[in-house]
Amino acid sequence: MPEEPTVNGDGADDGDTSSDGVVRRERFSGGPARGFLSSLAADERIFAADLAVDRAHVVMLEERGIVEAETAGEILVALDQIEDAGHDALPDGEDVHEAIETAVIDRVGPDGGRMHTARSRNDEVATCIRYRLREDLLDAAQATLEARGALIETAEAERETIMPGFTHLQPAQPTTVAHWALSYERAIAREIERLVAAYARTNQSPLGAAAFAGTPFEIDRERTAELLGFDGTMDNAMDAVSARDFLVESTAALASLATTLSGLAEDVVLYANKGYIEVDDSYASTSSIMPQKKNPDTLELVRARAGDAAAGLNGLLSTLKGLPRAYNRDLQRAGGHAWRTIDGVSEATEVAAGAVATAEWNEKALADAAGEGFSTATGVADALAMAGVPFRMAHEVVAGAAEAAGETDFQTLDAATRKVLDAPLTEYVDRETVEAALDPTESVASRDSPGGPAPGAVADQIATARDEHATDSDALADRRANLDAAAQTLQAEVETYV
Ligand code: ARG
Repeated sequence: MPEEPTVNGDGADDGDTSSDGVVRRERFSGGPARGFLSSLAADERIFAADLAVDRAHVVMLEERGIVEAETAGEILVALDQIEDAGHDALPDGEDVHEAIETAVIDRVGPDGGRMHTARSRNDEVATCIRYRLREDLLDAAQATLEARGALIETAEAERETIMPGFTHLQPAQPTTVAHWALSYERAIAREIERLVAAYARTNQSPLGAAAFAGTPFEIDRERTAELLGFDGTMDNAMDAVSARDFLVESTAALASLATTLSGLAEDVVLYANKGYIEVDDSYASTSSIMPQKKNPDTLELVRARAGDAAAGLNGLLSTLKGLPRAYNRDLQRAGGHAWRTIDGVSEATEVAAGAVATAEWNEKALADAAGEGFSTATGVADALAMAGVPFRMAHEVVAGAAEAAGETDFQTLDAATRKVLDAPLTEYVDRETVEAALDPTESVASRDSPGGPAPGAVADQIATARDEHATDSDALADRRANLDAAAQTLQAEVETYV
């Protein structure tokens, strides 16, 4: 049989064989840097993935007549036993791929060494990472979908709960809790799109690329891709083993999600400070010294996870920057950044969703605050502009009133109008219109442009959000069903041998 390509520093995989084929490997695995070289402990994350990849590869090798059916059966039985024994029972090795292969050879004898025909650890590890990450991406997208659902329920329940809206953290215009919740729902919908886009490019099979240069064996790359539930195969073998942009894209999507959630968390922390919202006890902590304290700590930690995620993305990009073609061992350090990020952000997403879902909005405090700081000023200027006054002049009138008196009412507005426009206010708008514009609830009701906070506009947004949530939910379920179906097909294939 032709030898596996031995180019490009794939030293530990290189040729030399003895009776069991592991002599050369032993020569390179005993030095003081042994622990430094090994990724075995961290590879627990891809233990199940590696077993699946091994199974699909062995099935394909047998179907292509590269490995005999009996040998394939023995290897597949060994893989089942190795799975049952678990990752912790693996023999020592530089990584999970080597350890599983050693465990197979231990059970099957030298023929177990046929498992690694027509592949390298380079395409193997890339396949394992993609195989595992896609599950994690679906889980993250599912958690995000649930956070989105919690925000839709908040919007539904607080459709007409008036609250102050801020810019620069200054009272700006009255809005509703529903409008606020939907603002995050929309943002989170885009985060899901980004996760799904990352999933699409992650779910491509590098298997069969071998070390980077392909293989003389007549393998069937589509077949292993299909058995492993990949949507396709990577076109270029050198790209297939080198590329980690799917990790970058996934980690970036998670960092973006975490950043959005950090804003949401910050809002809740601020609103708790002002008494607008009360975080449920199960999402709060107290102080070890100040008995009266109830702190929104979980949301502070959600806010902090955005820092971890940014660090993860940074670590990943820094690791990948400037790596030459094709495989380099630096890549062994890439996955950890992505795993830590996906775990940290997924957890934060669940906590944020739970904190929002269980929080109590204080209607009275919100309503009282909604009119503070002359937050209806824009509405008065709009009323004047709707009566034909150029908006810039209307702005000046209201600004004049706001400046002249801390509290702004019909009288002060009238005085300002006389000053700026040389006419009484009622020449433009009647008193009732002015009073309505000054009232936070009426102010909100008047802003029914698409995307606005008026109850009708919010109802439209809730309907859209519910529709899209259901569509995205179905799409995620389809992807998961495809993976489950592939896993079952692979299992059924394996059973024909064992
Ligand atoms: N443990 C390695 C990794 O995670 C697997 C590939 C090793 N390949 C090699 N040529 N040394 O990247």
